[in-house]
Amino acid sequence: MHFGVIGAGQMGGGIAQVAAQSGFDVTVQDVQQEFLDRGRATIQKSLSKLHEKGRLSSTPDEILGRIRFTTELTAFAGCDLVVEAIVENQQVKAGLFRQLGEVVKPDGILASNTSSIPITSLATASGRPERFIGMHFMNPVPLMQLVEVIRGYQTSDATAQFVTETAERMGKTPLSCNDFPGFVSNRILMPMLNEAIQCVMEGVAEPEAIDGIMKLGMNHPMGPLTLADFIGLDTCLSIMEVLHRGLGDDKYRPSPLLRKMVQAGLLGRKSGQGFYRY
Ligand code: CAA
Ligand code: NAD
Repeated sequence: MHFGVIGAGQMGGGIAQVAAQSGFDVTVQDVQQEFLDRGRATIQKSLSKLHEKGRLSSTPDEILGRIRFTTELTAFAGCDLVVEAIVENQQVKAGLFRQLGEVVKPDGILASNTSSIPITSLATASGRPERFIGMHFMNPVPLMQLVEVIRGYQTSDATAQFVTETAERMGKTPLSCNDFPGFVSNRILMPMLNEAIQCVMEGVAEPEAIDGIMKLGMNHPMGPLTLADFIGLDTCLSIMEVLHRGLGDDKYRPSPLLRKMVQAGLLGRKSGQGFYRY
């Protein structure tokens, strides 16, 4: 299987890593060499950790050797499956899928790792809606079990079956849903994170207390503000905007504090500062 990944950020790097761990030949593309270098270093670090714990069936070097890093979109021509994991922006993703639809072999399947953007709209842009699907991995990809599989309006049964089987070959548990704003995962998760941010804005409690209350009180592995920083505040804001626009209800309105922090460039862990400093 030739597996393509677009975007070498936290999600794209993780997806490429797990695909290579599963024995696939992987091609990863990003817009600049420095982003590819950063992605490669993150994958290397993660593989070393897993190797130390005896959780890999081959060596980190062998696994890394299965991944080719490139800035050229044409490198995806022969791919059986390409998963896109670039910025959470509908226009940018649609533009990319328009190009990709022309580059990838006709029977290749295209998938988006989008957190919330309508799969059907991206499927239309790709020009191959039957062979288009949402393949939503969770962060951090090497450790999280779920792949949310989202069928677009015209996704074929064969495409859904192929992607479900591929997720299983990657050691993940695929669960299906239909194409509604935020799907299942982020329709339920994101309003909770947004509410925690609203609590900070209103002075209900300090960030450490909010996170502590949710960790110790609800047995969540991370508090909501730590998790928002981990996901990326820009991504959280984009998801809330999709929910608010798509579902219409005011309960999905992004917290003004979230908007302000993104405007200030405080994006969480990836920018070095969000609700906490990294
Ligand atoms: N690769 C390899 N190892 C990793 C790793 C990675 N990417 N990330 C963390 N680890 C390792 C750590 O280094 C640590 O190793 P040691 O025990 O040797 O120190 C080990 O995993 C455990 O990590 P931690 O001790 O830091 O913390 P933990 O026990 O809490 O586990 C976690 C980490 C699995 C991330 C856990 O905190 C967790 O489940 N957090 C919630 C994650 C979550 O909710 N993800 C979904 C986000 S939403 C989403 O993805 C969808 C979307 O569209 C936004
Ligand atoms: P990120 O900012 O860490 O990485 C995005 C990468 O895409 C960057 O390296 C960037 O250079 C690259 N990129 C941007 N435009 C590109 C283009 N036109 N062509 C090729 N590469 C391009 O973001 P991320 O957190 O990895 O999120 C990526 C996608 O995954 C988003 O759609 C996001 O909603 C989704 N997602 C994120 C999480 C999360 O927890 N962060 C979880 C599940 C899904």
